[in-house]
Amino acid sequence: MGKSEIDDLPGVGPTIAEKLRESGYSDVMSIAVASPRELSDVVDIGEATAVKIIKAARKLADIGNFETGAVLLERRAKIGYISSGSKSLDELLGGRGFESQAITELFGEFGSGKTQIAHQLCVNAQLPAEKGGLESHAFYIDTENTFRPDRIIQMAEACDLDPDDVLQKIHVARAYNSSHQMLLVEKVNELSKEIPARLLVVDSLTAHFRAEYVGRGALADRQQKLNKHMHDLMRWGDLNNGVVCVTNQVSAKPDAFFGDPTRPIGGHIVGHTATFRIYLRKSKGGKRIARLIDSPNLPEGEAVFSVSEKGIRD
Ligand code: GTP
Ligand code: MG
Repeated sequence: MGKSEIDDLPGVGPTIAEKLRESGYSDVMSIAVASPRELSDVVDIGEATAVKIIKAARKLADIGNFETGAVLLERRAKIGYISSGSKSLDELLGGRGFESQAITELFGEFGSGKTQIAHQLCVNAQLPAEKGGLESHAFYIDTENTFRPDRIIQMAEACDLDPDDVLQKIHVARAYNSSHQMLLVEKVNELSKEIPARLLVVDSLTAHFRAEYVGRGALADRQQKLNKHMHDLMRWGDLNNGVVCVTNQVSAKPDAFFGDPTRPIGGHIVGHTATFRIYLRKSKGGKRIARLIDSPNLPEGEAVFSVSEKGIRD
C-alpha cells in the first residue's frame, strides 16, 4: 500500500497508518468523522492519542461544507441518466433510468437479474444521451467473479455498438475480500482523473461482508464498514456526477431470522444510504418484477421486464 494523506497526520507513524488503512480509514475525512473510542479500538492506541489524530484530521479535512440551495439546484440540474434497457423499469425510476449523484441498490434472490442489469448498464452507459446513455466508460468491481465479457458482446451487438470498443471502456477489477473491495473504490477515485467514467458498479456489495463478519458480535463492525463503503461510493458519484449501482442478494423465503425479504438482512445501513432501492423477483416465463422501495420522491410501483438474448428489455 502506498503512502497517502493519512501518513502526514501528526502522531501517525507508518504502523498506525497501515492499521488505519487496513481497517478502512483510508482518507483524512474518514478519520475526522470517527469517534475516539472507535479509533482507539481498531488501531489499538490510547484514546488520548486517538483524540489527537482525529483533531489533526479535522483540521485537514474540509468539513464545513455548507452550500446554498441555489448551488444544490444547479448541481441537480446536471444529473445524468443511464437507461436500463427496459422502458418500464426506467419509468419506475422516474422516467429516464438510473440517476447520477445517487446510489441505486438492486436487491433480490439469486437469478433475479441483478448481475444482468449491471452488465446492461455498462453497455448503455456508452450510448449517446438520446439513446439513454452518458457516452462514458464504466468501472465494475466484481466480488463474485460473475462479470462475463461474452455477455457484454451480445448486449453491445444488440445496441449496434462495436463490441471491442465497448469492452475497452469497461474497467473490471476482482475484489478478493471486503477490505480489498473498499480499497478498490480508492483506486477508482484515482483512475477517474484519467478515465471518463460515469458508472460504477459493485456486484455484489454485500457478499464479502456477509461471509467475513459472521455472528452477532461482528454485526456492528460490519455495519460500520459497510457504512463507510457506501459513503465512499456516494462521494465518487457526487464528484464524478456518476451513477452508482450496487447489488445485494437476499433470500426470497421469509424466515424466522430474517423476516420480510424486502428488508435485507442487516441492510439498514445500505438501505438508508442508497438513494433508490429496487427489489427484484422472478416471475413466470423468464419475466422479472422490479419494485421500488422506500423512495423519498417517487411513488412506489412495480415494473415488469425480461432478461433476453439481447439483454434487459420490456
Ligand atoms: P445472484 O448473483 O446469484 O444473486 O443472481 P443475480 O440476481 O445476479 O442473477 P443474474 O443477473 O445473474 O441472472 C441470471 C439469469 O439471467 C439467468 O437465470 C437467466 O435467466 C438470465 N440470463 C443470463 N444470461 C442470459 C443470456 O445470455 N440470455 C438470456 N436469455 N438470459 C440470460
Ligand atoms: Mg449476480
